[in-house]
Parts: sequence; structure tokens; C-alpha cells
Amino acid sequence: MDFKTLISEVLAKAADRPAEEIYNALEVPKAAMGDYAFPCFKLSKIFRKAPPAIAEYLAGEIVLPEYLEKIEVVGGYINFFIDKTALNKSVLDKILTEGGDYIKSKEGEGKTVCIDYSSPNIAKPFHIGHLRSTVIGNSLYRIYGALGYNMMGINHLGDWGTQFGKLISAYKRWGNKEDVERIGISELTRLYVLFHTKAEENPELNDEARGYLVKMQNGDEEALSLWKWFVDISMREFQRVYDMLDITFDSYAGESFYNDKMPYVVEEIKSKGILEESDGAQVVNLEKYKMPPCLILRRDGGTLYPTRDITAALYRKNTYNFSKCLYVTAVDQKLHFAQWFKVLELMGYDWAATELVHIPFGLVNLGTEGKLSTRTGHVVLMEDVLKEAVEKTKAIIEEKNPDLEDKEEIAKEVGIGAVIFDDMFNGRIKNIAFDWNKILNFEGETGPYVQYTHARACSLLRKAEITGVPSEIDYSLISDESSQALIKALGDLPQKIKDAAEKYEPYIISRQLIEICQSFNRFYRDNSVLGSEGETKKVRLALVYAAKTAIKEGLYLLGIKAPERM
Ligand code: ARG
Repeated sequence: MDFKTLISEVLAKAADRPAEEIYNALEVPKAAMGDYAFPCFKLSKIFRKAPPAIAEYLAGEIVLPEYLEKIEVVGGYINFFIDKTALNKSVLDKILTEGGDYIKSKEGEGKTVCIDYSSPNIAKPFHIGHLRSTVIGNSLYRIYGALGYNMMGINHLGDWGTQFGKLISAYKRWGNKEDVERIGISELTRLYVLFHTKAEENPELNDEARGYLVKMQNGDEEALSLWKWFVDISMREFQRVYDMLDITFDSYAGESFYNDKMPYVVEEIKSKGILEESDGAQVVNLEKYKMPPCLILRRDGGTLYPTRDITAALYRKNTYNFSKCLYVTAVDQKLHFAQWFKVLELMGYDWAATELVHIPFGLVNLGTEGKLSTRTGHVVLMEDVLKEAVEKTKAIIEEKNPDLEDKEEIAKEVGIGAVIFDDMFNGRIKNIAFDWNKILNFEGETGPYVQYTHARACSLLRKAEITGVPSEIDYSLISDESSQALIKALGDLPQKIKDAAEKYEPYIISRQLIEICQSFNRFYRDNSVLGSEGETKKVRLALVYAAKTAIKEGLYLLGIKAPERM
């Protein structure tokens, strides 16, 4: 039973009010003011007294339960101080009995959340923007999963559109099978760029490309098999990145999946009377909402990005009956989402206003020359960045701990973890200044620092020969400030995870992990663990065990591995 619930019950009895009402009003005050505070002005209408008088009265009514050290009246507030031993016991017992599951909840039971993330474009590079979408989406997937939601992770691949007509034309004119197989996406990109250069001198190429697109739409075998091949070549490369990140999706239904479903949706938009002609194209006017029109059909009848998104949202609602569908993309797509969310609302789907959520993120500033190397022109390929992270980490390990077993695997977990952690250390919308020295600093507020603290805890447990879960602990033996601070940080993690979900902000978890690790390192500095004895040693090892468990779980929610040795 958590203390907030217990306190609201005690107070509810004293005030003769529903426990839920009290629960919702309880606040967390500044540290010296106790663990919970009740603002009595919330009851002034009922009691018809000034808040300080209510506070005095209620405090007099309360019989102090054993888990409370004291209560204090300060002005119109009643402050509750939880007994330290009771607090230690409640936090640690929960972690020791439930393990990593101590952070889980059932709030999402019976509800489904769809997350549309990563979603790279076929035949185009997997760039840093896609990496951000991938890691933020994956973290939200795990966070909501921990809260008991049924999860649907969707990779909405950009696998249809005018670019494929151009690509087929370019491939047939200047490409060859062997180069595409060998070089992959970079070769496809080269052909695509070449098409644009050539089409400037020779505009008929555009007609040829359109011709191929029409062929694709009409099911022409040759055009479709080339398209399919471009998809396979691209997926092979994307898959290498997903493997490095250890990420999988529940669905890879990309834009092409909605081809046969769009005509019905366009009909529906028309039947709702909101489709109008503009310059030969079909649009939904959004002037009233201070937005440019949302394009539904091109002049030649072709569908567009918003048409596919509207169709996909309806399909997902019907198929998964989501209570929320999240879209993780760069902030520059903000208008696109606002527009088509509005179109769905105008179609009469009220849920679009509350259940569809765009989760935007800021740009990555690649910094000055040399910070991130590029292989093809100006695009930084994520595969290269991740490989470089692993290489750099390997060099650090080689220098600091050359005898480490399994160096390759650990360098991978730490290097990639470092990039992921850095991505989610600040609010999503903040731009990132990419800097290797900052990311890989083992002493900074970084992934490697968190992983290193975890490995340090594991090493302590190994040295103490702790294999099972510590039990029968005398919690009264922990009273020093740094141990208390660590326990508080561990106890706060579940609430931070809920906050992260509510705000769609994984950084709330990364920050809490830093808080836990810093508290752990202070605790370890102030308390001898292996050098202590008997019951004291037991209690301190239990604390080490709990910290290790919490850090590992927190890292998991960010999509980061927790090696036991570093
Ligand atoms: N393929 C798009 C891009 O790379 C992202 C797609 C995001 N998801 C969506 N349903 N629109 O920019």
C-alpha cells in the first residue's frame, strides 16, 4: 500500500470527506516540509473557516499511525512526515520482491496505444531524423508497455509516391543490377539525384516517370517487381540499423498498404461535403482554422501524403481500436499533422482531436566540421554514426580496461547506448548539438555513466557473493542522509515513468536515472559496503541490489542495454 493512499484515508476520516478527493489534493512539498502536504483551503467552503483553523482542527483529529513520524501545521497546510524506517521498508521491500516489475502499473489495461515511428523512406538514406524518431518512439513504446497498455508499433514506411516512377526511369536508363545490389540505397539515391539533373535539360523524362508510376498503379508486373526490389534493397539496410538498436516493429504497413483503401476514403470526404477544387486539385479548405488547405488529390488524380495518413488513421482505428495513436516525427511536419487531424474531425470523427497525437522533436545540429563524418554528400547515415560510436567506445575500453571479457559486445552496448541516451537527455523539442566528447564521457550525465554505475553495483554484488535476492533486512539500520536520498530516488522512479508517459517525454526517465546514479555514488562514497559487517552489510547490499535493479529497468525503458561488466 503506498503512503499517499494511506495518508488520504487517515485524513479523509478526520475531515469526513471522500478519500479520493483528499488523495487528489495532496501535494509533494519541498524536502524539509515533509513528504506530503495537504492544502486546507480546498476545504474552506465546506468548513466555513480560514485554512489555518481547518489545519489546526484536522491535525488535532488525527491519531498518528505508526508509519508517520510526525505531522506539522504550517499556515493553511498540514505536512506529513513519513517514518524513515517505514519508508525504507516500503520502497526496498517492493523492489526486492517485485524486481524490475516494481515500476510497472496496470493503468493501461484493456487499452491499446499505436505508435507510428521510425518510418524511413524507401530508396532514401536513413538519416539522423529517422534515428531520433526510432529511439524516441521505441522508448515510448516500452514506457506505455510498462504501464500495462497493449502496444502496436508501426513502421509507416515511405514506400509509395511519385519518386518511384522517377527511380524506375533512372534505373532503366543509367543503372545496373550489380551496383544496386552491391552499393544499395546510396546507389538508388545517386540515380534519383541524377534523374533530377537530367530532367532539367530534358523535361520529357518527367512524362516517362509519370508513365511508370501509372504502370505501378495499374499493377504492371515489371514496374511492380522493380519497385518491390527497391523496397527489399532498402529494408535490408534499414534492418541493419534496427538490429544494432535491437528494435522490432509489430507492423511494417507502409504507405503503399493503403493504396486500395484510399478511393473509399476520398469518396467519404467528398460525401461529407468538404472536398473542393483548387487549381485542378482536390483539397479540404482549412481557412477557418488558419491553416492552408489540406491536399487530398493531385491534379492528375494521384493521392498524396495526407491522403495516405487519413486513410491509415481510419484503418488503425477500425483494426486496433486504439485509445491513442502517436506519431513521432521532426517538428517540421507539425502543420501536416495539424491539417489532416482537422480533416478527420471535419469528417465527423471527434476522436481525432483527442486521440491522435503528434510527438514532434527538434533537429540535430551536426556541429562544426569533423564532429560527424559523412559518407555520401551531406547526409549523415545512421549506420555510420552507430558504427563510429562502437569503434570509439572500443578504443576507450582498450585504454581503460583491456582485459575485459566480451569487449566487442560491451563496446556495442555502451557505444550505441551512449548515442540513444544523449538523444533523450533533454526535452524532445530541444535541438541537439552532437558532440562525441560529451556523449562518451564516462563521468558526465551520459549513458556510459549510468551503465558504469550499474556495472559497479553488479561488481559489488559479485564480490559479496550475492546471487539471490537479499531478504530479512533490518531497515532501521539505514538512517544516513545519502542512503535516504538513494532510497527516495528509487522510490520516485515509478511516478517519473508515469510522468514521462503523460508528457511523452523519455528525458524524465533519463534525468531520474542520473539522479539515482549520483545518489548511488554518494551512498557508496559515504558508506563502506564490503568493509561493513553483519546486519549492516546486509542492508547496504540490499540497497546496492535495489539500485542495480532500478537502473537496469530504467535503461530498458530508454532502449539501452545494461552490461554487468564494463
Ligand atoms: N516517411 C516520413 C518521413 O521520412 C515519416 C512518416 C511519419 N509517419 C506518418 N504517418 N506520416 O518524413
